[in-house]
Amino acid sequence: MNPGVTLRGVRFAVPPKVLTNFDLEKIVDTTDEWIRTRTGIEERHVLNAGESSSDLGVQAADELLRDLAVDKSTIDALIVATATPEMLFPSTACIVAHKLGLGGIPSFDFSAACSGFLYGLNIAKGFIESGQYKNVLLICVESLSKIVDWKDRSTCVLFGDGAGAALLSATGDDRRIRSILIGADGQYQEYLYVPLGGTIAMSGRDVFQVACRKMTEAAQTVIERAGLTMDDISLVVPHQANTRIINQVAKLLRLPEEKMFVNIQRYGNTSAASIPIAYREAELAGRILPGDTILFVAFGGGFTWGAAVVKV
Ligand code: ACO
Repeated sequence: MNPGVTLRGVRFAVPPKVLTNFDLEKIVDTTDEWIRTRTGIEERHVLNAGESSSDLGVQAADELLRDLAVDKSTIDALIVATATPEMLFPSTACIVAHKLGLGGIPSFDFSAACSGFLYGLNIAKGFIESGQYKNVLLICVESLSKIVDWKDRSTCVLFGDGAGAALLSATGDDRRIRSILIGADGQYQEYLYVPLGGTIAMSGRDVFQVACRKMTEAAQTVIERAGLTMDDISLVVPHQANTRIINQVAKLLRLPEEKMFVNIQRYGNTSAASIPIAYREAELAGRILPGDTILFVAFGGGFTWGAAVVKV
């Protein structure tokens, strides 16, 4: 079998501070009932002033490398998916690499908004399949609480902060990325954007419609390219934007809702970090077992989208 790329493990970290819907009722004109029924969100974790998102990335990566007993000197590259870097430069990747003691290896950020995990899988796959690197550390980290307008009830209730870390390595066995696609279309940029130095602006209904369509198409394409059918998928781990998008995608894919993993109730939308957080929670809940075939599917600002079929 040709060398492939395996997802060796995923860990995550969120800040300790929890903001519930009831807390938000005190900040903006909203209700727990409105937020829960429209989005599925009950609470989210947010960074305190002075806390750094790069520390979350470091925490997730440290736990991952320790649990997998991976020697840091074997990591060949660090890539960071973030739409909320700590600075314009240095990149969050350089900051995280230094804190992790990985100085010297190539480290860079890329932005694909909520599709960051899928873009990262694809970048890592390319590096590894080309023979350039054997082990690529992917960190997805977001501090969305710093770019929401806390006076805008239509957006501030949706987002949370968090980080996920994943290790991708060369493999000779069949537990590997079976198929993957990523895509983008800038024609929709006015539906969801953050101007430099500004806060999130969103046309919720437009995002909803395009998200459902693109996520469904991307999922169908990667399953077909893997030579599989929906029945072969053990669990779908979708980007956690809101439960209504997830349920609608399940319906369009003719999948029972139980096959879609949902944990948005406790984290809100953590953008690039949402899939790794959901993946690890699904694993801890016993919903993912070695040898399972997982479908990842994401959609985000840009618009960007992506999907992958991965045997784990
Ligand atoms: N609390 C109470 N009322 C609210 C709130 C709130 N937090 N937010 C908006 N409203 C009000 C609006 O002001 C409006 O009131 P009006 O009728 O008096 O004008 C009413 O609720 C309906 O507003 P809509 O925006 O039309 O509400 P909608 O039913 O479309 O739901 C939502 C909004 C949940 C954002 C929905 O459009 C959606 O799920 N869109 C997808 C967007 C998304 O998930 N974005 C995440 C980023 S992109 C991504 O990750 C894929």
